[in-house]
Amino acid sequence: MKKILAAAAAVSVAFGCTRVADGQSAGTDEMLDYCAVQTERTLAQIGSAGYGMSPRNIAPGDSTWTLCPVSKELWTEGFWPGVLWYDYEYTGDERIRAAAEGYTGALEFISGIPAYDHDLGFIVFCSYGNGYRLTGNPAYRDVILAAADRLASLYNPAAGTILSWPREMESLGGHNTIMDNMINLEMLFWAAENGGRPEYAEIARSHADMTMKYNFRPDSTSYHVAVYDPSTGKHIRSCTHQGYSDDSMWARGQAWGIYGYTMCYRFTGDRKYLDFACRITDKYLSLLPEDMVPYWDFDDPEIPDVSRDASAAAIVASALVELSGYAGGEKGAGYLASARKMVNSLYENYRGGDSCPAFLLHSTGHRPAGSEIDYSIIYADYYFIEALLRLSGSSL
Ligand code: GLY
Repeated sequence: MKKILAAAAAVSVAFGCTRVADGQSAGTDEMLDYCAVQTERTLAQIGSAGYGMSPRNIAPGDSTWTLCPVSKELWTEGFWPGVLWYDYEYTGDERIRAAAEGYTGALEFISGIPAYDHDLGFIVFCSYGNGYRLTGNPAYRDVILAAADRLASLYNPAAGTILSWPREMESLGGHNTIMDNMINLEMLFWAAENGGRPEYAEIARSHADMTMKYNFRPDSTSYHVAVYDPSTGKHIRSCTHQGYSDDSMWARGQAWGIYGYTMCYRFTGDRKYLDFACRITDKYLSLLPEDMVPYWDFDDPEIPDVSRDASAAAIVASALVELSGYAGGEKGAGYLASARKMVNSLYENYRGGDSCPAFLLHSTGHRPAGSEIDYSIIYADYYFIEALLRLSGSSL
């Protein structure tokens, strides 16, 4: 992987002068410097609340983070420590490392209790995963492996997938698997290669294969949710939870898919995942508005009078830097150019700037539930800085 990303980084230099419609592009270092300043502002704002309080979002027009106590139900709590690890990777600042360690350590309890849902991967791999990558601390590895055990406990061999939301079995009508769950396979693949049970790689592959079959339509657009009979594993239906309708393409769902299948190729080298990642990426790119930041759902009939989702753009930008190296050639160069346009557009037109300490404005959390519409949300910041580090040649 390192070799592939080094190649991607070399191409990224060639595309460093890409322009977006509404402004001059900034260099990757300028954007990372900006993230470092915003990270300091956030730390100054939330530091006194302690490591057990996690920044989640900032409402439109507001300038302070909403903090949530860490808990087994808070799927977003790994992103802030992840942002700190990424910022430490860029700045080398030991104060930032100390903060990253503090916020990461506050999540250790998650690996010692029964899995609440599939989000264990988001929570533990963004925090402990990055911490282990950067420090090699063996205690971090132990937490990741324990969390992988918990995550694997949600696997249903009849369906061939992980149960994403145990609490929604009744409301959705069975064993449910959501697109977001693709990201959590990363922790299982990693565990299988780093001292965890080798069969976790097979669980992850099976999950990815079934998601490919039942969470996508023939035209390469995605369903958010697939529902299976928990006993027989028979597929019952595919539908949405956070999208506009059962037939629509929820922007962040497609983004999770692009990121997820790119990551599956990284671990397996199986060409079918690479081909699929390219297919669903091409669909996504073909439908984007000019500024490369999608509306929250591609099929909302109220477009353009609906909220964007900057988080989806950040997730896809990060994935495309990685995918560009695997696709190679002209196709890879095209993906890298798209990733560069996305981060430039986010930086030029969607940044929090002086108005608030978040990196980015204008994400949409759960629009059908009326939640976090046009907010700054912590996961948008996580994937934005990840994309920038990847563009700058980090081996992550
Ligand atoms: N994983 C939940 C979301 O993407 O909103």
